[in-house]
Amino acid sequence: MTFALIAIGLVISTALVTIGVMRHRIHRLAEAAHDVVREPSRRVPIASAAGELRVLGEWINALAEDADRSRNALHHERTLLASVADLLTHGVIAIDGEHRIELLNDAARRMLGVQSSLVGEPLLEFVRVPELHALVEHPEDASAEVQLPNGPRTLVRAARTWGRAGRVLLLEDVTNVRRLETVRRDFIANVSHELRTPVAVIRANAETLIAGAKDDPQMAPRLMDGLHRNAERLARLIADLLDLSRLDAGQYRLDVSNVAVKSVTEQSLSAIETNAQKRNVTVNVSIPETLVVRADPKALDQILVNLIDNGVKYTPADGHVWVAARELGDAVRIEVRDDGPGIADKHRERVFERFYRADSSRWREAGGTGLGLSIVKHLVESMGGQVGVEPNSPRGSIFWLRLPKASTSTAAA
Ligand SMILES: Nc1ncnc2c1ncn2[C@@H]1O[C@H](COP(=O)(O)OP(=O)(O)OP(=O)(O)O)[C@@H](O)[C@H]1O
Ligand SMILES: [Mg+2]
Repeated sequence: MTFALIAIGLVISTALVTIGVMRHRIHRLAEAAHDVVREPSRRVPIASAAGELRVLGEWINALAEDADRSRNALHHERTLLASVADLLTHGVIAIDGEHRIELLNDAARRMLGVQSSLVGEPLLEFVRVPELHALVEHPEDASAEVQLPNGPRTLVRAARTWGRAGRVLLLEDVTNVRRLETVRRDFIANVSHELRTPVAVIRANAETLIAGAKDDPQMAPRLMDGLHRNAERLARLIADLLDLSRLDAGQYRLDVSNVAVKSVTEQSLSAIETNAQKRNVTVNVSIPETLVVRADPKALDQILVNLIDNGVKYTPADGHVWVAARELGDAVRIEVRDDGPGIADKHRERVFERFYRADSSRWREAGGTGLGLSIVKHLVESMGGQVGVEPNSPRGSIFWLRLPKASTSTAAA
């Protein structure tokens, strides 16, 4: 009996010890499992475990490995998405159902003028643009053109995110597109306007001649002269437009070489001589023979013809035009100066714009197209130079250009 009681006691105490040990192991396993949940890269220790606990440990570790792999894959996808989004020139903003920012790429940050990531911040508190509010509230995909505060004119497209609340916004900077549209519209309007006048004169003169004036010894020469002058004007306008379109399209081939400024200037002067004599305007040239620039000789000639022609054209009779050039560091500065009426401050910077004329009454007399200086600017800049205009003292204008000086080791053309 006593023996039996001792045996039962032993069994019970062995069972209690075993249960205690098991509870301790399960507790350790639970703690290790808890660590794994918090940090899936960790594992539960199973080296000393046996039986069911080992199997359980192995399952927990297998689940942890799965979670770890998914987490790494998710992280990889996120970085990939962010890198791709940052490469886009369009802005991308993803927001959740509460309009909090989930993703904001570099382009969007630039457009909004922000430095920080802004992830988690409410978008509409940063961008207080009513049209943008309407877009993100809109139940369907929608788009609108908005002016971002201190940012560009932007076309925003808002699309719903698949399977959840929230929106993806695509931001496209349309400042340049809109500016080009305006330039194109103005250009077409200007060209049509410029064509209309000479065409109207040609038509009217031709009709009058056909109607009988051709036999009128007084009227006929005057009408024919009008025909000729306006046909010339049309030809000049078309030539200028062609030059501009070639320059714009990069099809105006410039062959840059070493060019002696003096000899090109003399060639340019010969094209203007008759006009200068007719208007009794004296053209003085003061250019050292040794001055050599890097330029396309045909383009430099065209530039000088335009500038000297303007000097002669806009200077009243008995006026003067001076063409001078000198070295200025690595460059050569060429100046065309006149003692004509000069150009008012408000017009000075704009005279290089297409069709811009500082004084519309004077151009009618002179008959220019208003394209000469824009071609000059284009040509000078295409050759790596700069061009500008300053008032001359005591009166008149100074048109100047700077071109790279040819290195002394290379001979002049
Ligand atoms: N030397 C100058 N003195 C005064 N005004 C000038 C002078 N040069 C240019 N301008 C002004 O600048 C405007 C633009 O000149 P630009 O050479 O581009 O055109 P244009 O002479 O009118 O025509 P184009 O040269 O195409 O025949 C002129 O219409 C004129 O008002
Ligand atoms: Mg001109």
